[in-house]
Amino acid sequence: MSQEFTDFVISSMGPKTTPRARCVIGSLIQHIHDFTRENYITVDEWLYGVDFINKIGHMSDERRNEGILVSDVLGLETLVDIQTHKLDHVKKTSSAIIGPFYRPNSPLYRNGESIIQKEVGGVKAFVHGRITDPEGKPLPGAKVEVWHCAPNGLYEQQDDEQPDYNLRGTFIADEQGYYSYTCLRPTSYPIPYDGPAGDLLQFMDRHPNRPSHIHWRVSYPEYHDLITQIYDSECPYTKDDSVFAVKEDCIVNFTPIDNINLSTVNGHVKSLDELKAKDIEVELYYDISLPLESEMQKDRKKVEAKQVELERAYFEKYAKFAKNVDLSSIIEK
Ligand code: BEZ
Ligand code: FE
Repeated sequence: MSQEFTDFVISSMGPKTTPRARCVIGSLIQHIHDFTRENYITVDEWLYGVDFINKIGHMSDERRNEGILVSDVLGLETLVDIQTHKLDHVKKTSSAIIGPFYRPNSPLYRNGESIIQKEVGGVKAFVHGRITDPEGKPLPGAKVEVWHCAPNGLYEQQDDEQPDYNLRGTFIADEQGYYSYTCLRPTSYPIPYDGPAGDLLQFMDRHPNRPSHIHWRVSYPEYHDLITQIYDSECPYTKDDSVFAVKEDCIVNFTPIDNINLSTVNGHVKSLDELKAKDIEVELYYDISLPLESEMQKDRKKVEAKQVELERAYFEKYAKFAKNVDLSSIIEK
């Protein structure tokens, strides 16, 4: 069926539709119709798609977000993340997808303390660094939330054997902006693949594995919240992430503690023996730089201006369609 039918559907929106909704839903209709035409979609295939979307809903609850998983294997969350946090002219740590396993209000620990509430195996790591602005000015009091999965590949909310909030913690950067914590060297794991996201991966002949990573959320008043991840350079999936989230500046090297320079530990630890007594085997030093929220807002304003331009163009394009167009004359074409 012709473009005229698509135009007719788009132009059916009423006067109370907001310009943004008109533009976004109109564009969605255009792309869905083009997709259907280009691929000669049949009724059976469309019903399969409807069932697929229904399954995403049925599988989702407060412990599982299948909608995010499906977005992720299609690269959509990463695309949206990059598009939202571009800000090319500011030297800042790259953001990354939040993924489906973030939980707010993780336990508040003192710097250097461990987020391991229960021994679950794995290699212990000491992670530390500095939170600064793009010019290197420290941000004392910055809030650093971290979370990662256990060596069995499960986050605590997926695993009845782990205590609540295991391997999650909140830390506050000291007067010079330094933070530090003890965790496990992260492990790679498959994203849940017993639902629609797994079906998609199978259709595409792809594996479900994410590289070994730690998630971070770093916040400070008047600065833009950073949601990111760091990836172990030695993990094979760092170059082959099932959800396309890896950014070059977030790939890190864990160092065996015998090789580290103690002067970089910055007062949170007095000696190597202190780390060894806690069975820590590796160290990671990682600085994080946050952009000012006002810089992000300046960038947003430019994006909003582009959105308004698009909305105007949309409105003009569809203004010519009268509400009383005869549908049958279009369907025939
Ligand atoms: C995660 O890193 O936790 C994650 C990201 C995307 C999909 C599944 C898990
Ligand atoms: Fe993760």
